[in-house]
Amino acid sequence: MLKVLSFLGLLTLTMAAYAQPFCVDHGPYLQCPSIDGMTVYFTTSQPAFSYVEVRGGDCATPRRYVPCEAGLYMAYNTRNVVPLTGLRPATAYAYRIVSKPFKEFRPYHIVFGDSIVTPWETFRTLDDKATSLTLLVLNDVHGDADRLRRLLDIFPLKGVDLVVYNGDMVNYHEQESAPYGCFLDVSTEVFARRLPFLYLRGNHETRGCLARDYAHYVGTPSSRLYHAYYIGDCALVTFDTGEDKADSTAVYAGLCDFDGYREEQARWFAEEVMTDVRFQQAKHKIVLMHIPPIITPNIPAGEEHGNALLHRLLVPLFNAAGVQYCIAAHAHRYGMYERGTQGCDFPVLVNDNHSALLVEITPQGVATHIINDKGESLQQRRDQ
Ligand SMILES: [Fe+2]
Repeated sequence: MLKVLSFLGLLTLTMAAYAQPFCVDHGPYLQCPSIDGMTVYFTTSQPAFSYVEVRGGDCATPRRYVPCEAGLYMAYNTRNVVPLTGLRPATAYAYRIVSKPFKEFRPYHIVFGDSIVTPWETFRTLDDKATSLTLLVLNDVHGDADRLRRLLDIFPLKGVDLVVYNGDMVNYHEQESAPYGCFLDVSTEVFARRLPFLYLRGNHETRGCLARDYAHYVGTPSSRLYHAYYIGDCALVTFDTGEDKADSTAVYAGLCDFDGYREEQARWFAEEVMTDVRFQQAKHKIVLMHIPPIITPNIPAGEEHGNALLHRLLVPLFNAAGVQYCIAAHAHRYGMYERGTQGCDFPVLVNDNHSALLVEITPQGVATHIINDKGESLQQRRDQ
């Protein structure tokens, strides 16, 4: 009897899922911006065959982008990651999703349902000749989508080139829907259909049984979660700073090697970024990371490990590389640590968890403006 009830319950749930009209239920939102590409992320409410059409630039007629692996177009899937490649720098494009569910998907008999087509959305590729760049940086909202919405409303998004989520946008990840509810759906609604965001993991994104699935939700133009973006005069280097406590801490259960991962990133910065002529010639060298590479006040005992190791591994490299500015998060407390603090030849700005940080990088320097969700201005200054 129990088995029959369980079966009926499952059947009811399945029928309910399919009773709702077929739709794009999350996204589209933009990731992986570059001077010649962009990636569209979205999910559909049922398994489907989905692709993205693009027009603009040199695409006189819409060009179709369909992810293909080993000869097979992606199909009968709900999660979609569609790279748009071969685009022109600093060019406006329009895109839309075309998606067809399946009525039947048998080995030799496939029947599609009715297609849906989303409205055209627009975006611009990054400008390879940009002399200025405006970032909106938010961090540590810890799954509070209402707070995120308020923070996104503080500065006008018009004129912002990139939004940066600098970690701890969730508390942990143990349900597939969590990233959507925590920040992705609000982002899609407010800006991310047309303006990409960079996503840096914090120490909370690394927690939970699905923490290894982040590539399904966010990405960079490389296959790594840390990346160097070269945008005209600006080099933006993003790090993936890992956990705050030592890898041997009991709650991690022996399942992580963030010390090794931080060392990997230090090697990458020294061997690939610092030797890259685009980095060397960049007038502005900005690093972004969740955990600051300095010891900030009031770190609980045992939680300074990440800060200390990042300090030891990265600060000598940042000094040698001529890093101009470091933007960090994690402390839940505003802090402006001037050039010279703890051996850093660059200022370290730590944004708190209730504030929006606008960063305008121009030939005149780096202007920063922080306003919290009470409307109070915490900082407005310009650094050379
Ligand atoms: Fe954090």
